Amino acid sequence: MFQQRPSSGVKRAADGLAYTRLCALLSIASLVRPASADTLGSFASDRHFVIGGVPTEQNAYPWVVALTNDIDANLFQRQFCGGSVIADRWVLTAAHCLFDRSGKPIELSTFKVAVNASDLSNPDATEIVVTNMYIHPNYDPLRENPMFDIALLELANDSGVEPIRVSAKSSDKLVGLDAKVIGWGAVDNADPTSLKFPVELHEALVPIVAMDVCNAPESYQGTIYPNQLCAGYAEGGIDSCTGDSGGPLFVNIDGVVQQVGVVSYGYGCALPNYYGIYSDVPYYIGWINQYVQVAEPEFEPEPIDLKSVASIPVAAATPSDLASSSWMGVLVLLAGVMLRRRIG
Ligand code: ARG
Repeated sequence: MFQQRPSSGVKRAADGLAYTRLCALLSIASLVRPASADTLGSFASDRHFVIGGVPTEQNAYPWVVALTNDIDANLFQRQFCGGSVIADRWVLTAAHCLFDRSGKPIELSTFKVAVNASDLSNPDATEIVVTNMYIHPNYDPLRENPMFDIALLELANDSGVEPIRVSAKSSDKLVGLDAKVIGWGAVDNADPTSLKFPVELHEALVPIVAMDVCNAPESYQGTIYPNQLCAGYAEGGIDSCTGDSGGPLFVNIDGVVQQVGVVSYGYGCALPNYYGIYSDVPYYIGWINQYVQVAEPEFEPEPIDLKSVASIPVAAATPSDLASSSWMGVLVLLAGVMLRRRIG
């Protein structure tokens, strides 16, 4: 059952051919430039529906949670991100889910964590109050393509669900494995001004892609770092999308399900060569362990020189369709860059 979800508060807006991190800049661009929608439409025939997924079986993933805002509406309308229970009272999510359009952290009193909500219409879903949030200190809410996009939520009471294991293995060892991503994010982004969202949690298989493939000239052009992970298909068609952010990417190794990523962003959704970008969970084991002990680190994360990281990935933001757009479009983009407002 698919419906449109009204945008509200920290919630999503039009997606378009843009980083699905969703900044106002690119939603403006997609509204004034129908070319974005045309580009998406041109491969609509092989687009599958998180995009390309299927509804999950009831309770197959008890540790998945929905982040819900406090507007006066039902759970379906209030879900704005995903997350995963990694210890009794701890939820892992994406940092960008916890900021408003102006780059200010949202108030703890304005959102909750819903468990038992794989079907958002389930009256038995429970919402739990969040008492603390810990956002990675290097996360910059004003950066166009997020880095260090990871955060922990401490719950007021025990979630009552079995936590998911967290992988501590270096992600190079995971390349080629079929990972699964789950979420309540858009199932159809063919019309960027009216995304369709599911009531039921969706899942899709997305293979983990090597860093050099993801950083290739036809893909993200060197803008992806070792604290990130890419997953998806060169041909596109299957991907996480708007609303899936914060949710888990996980693998099953020798029968043990373990989380390897957190949905972070992507250029559009399910576009050829533009894989989904996830925060690399094993990279952050040390950071997570400071708050709640989840695993023994199995490798030393490669330090990232923050100064060498360009704040706007000019290269990745200008694929041919943008380059060929009218200069009005370019002006709108520039205006957007200056506004630098975003929603998660
Ligand atoms: N930023 C999106 C969100 O807020 C998630 C986008 C993931 N995009 C992708 N192409 N995999 O829900």
